[in-house]
Amino acid sequence: MKQCVITGASLGLGRSLSKKYASMGYSLILISRNKDNLEKLKEELLKEYKIDIDIIPYDLTNETINFSKEILNSYSNIDVLINNAGMGIADSILYHDPIDEEKLIDLNIKALTILSIEFAKYFKEKGYGRIINISSVGSMMPGAYISSYYASKAYVSSFTYSINLELKQYNVYAIAFNLPRIDTDFDLHAKRKSKLKKGKNPMIIANKIYKKMNSKKGIINIGLSTKLMNLLSHIFTKSFISKCIGSKLK
Ligand SMILES: NC(=O)c1ccc[n+]([C@@H]2O[C@H](COP(=O)([O-])OP(=O)(O)OC[C@H]3O[C@@H](n4cnc5c(N)ncnc54)[C@H](OP(=O)(O)O)[C@@H]3O)[C@@H](O)[C@H]2O)c1
Repeated sequence: MKQCVITGASLGLGRSLSKKYASMGYSLILISRNKDNLEKLKEELLKEYKIDIDIIPYDLTNETINFSKEILNSYSNIDVLINNAGMGIADSILYHDPIDEEKLIDLNIKALTILSIEFAKYFKEKGYGRIINISSVGSMMPGAYISSYYASKAYVSSFTYSINLELKQYNVYAIAFNLPRIDTDFDLHAKRKSKLKKGKNPMIIANKIYKKMNSKKGIINIGLSTKLMNLLSHIFTKSFISKCIGSKLK
């Protein structure tokens, strides 16, 4: 049975991705910090689908090199890695807590990079694999008042695009999905003070990611607003776009 590893599975988009991959017959290895939420999700999915589900409560801001090796030594049939876990800090840099900032870099950049590298080696040996890295419309431009989050997603999209070029000769593909706003508790966790427009339903986004997971492209923009922003980022200056975004996010 094909297996899929999903990080940040307990809530939001990760929860919807878990449901989608379960419905498509994948056995799941689900990772995030909150054990209760992972157990509830597992129980819910097992009522509907005859698949194997393992939950691994783990904080990905901790060590990830041995952690990835342990996963890869414990399972023999992993086809898909989804690096979905991510966090934001939505405020002026003057008010960022450096401890939170370190966590953001460790989660959005370090953990995603190490998992991608270790799984890439494993997929190369297998002769097949998909690395799906969840990125954002924010990867396309600077974002005042959400600066480090947008910069971290620029890293995710750039890194993923590059490794896709390196890996495709081995039938291993890495795709960064640049996503629009999604209706999850992301803003709450990012302590965003301003109220923004409601985002897309996470189940709709999970369906789109699943549908495009066999694409050979390194970056895929999901949704009209993301495609439009991609276009605008090629027309207007960084300074103009950053000012527009900043005025909305302040
Ligand atoms: N929401 C949006 O508008 C939006 C738009 C574009 C892209 N994205 C991206 O989509 C992805 C999912 O975001 P979301 O909206 O679903 O956010 P969310 O509701 O805040 O969910 C984040 C998930 O990551 C897990 N997580 C957080 N810190 C972790 C850590 N240190 N170690 C392991 N797991 C951790 C959380 O579970 P625990 O608390 O149990 O650890 C949760 O399952 C992120 O990469 C985000 O950047 C979101």
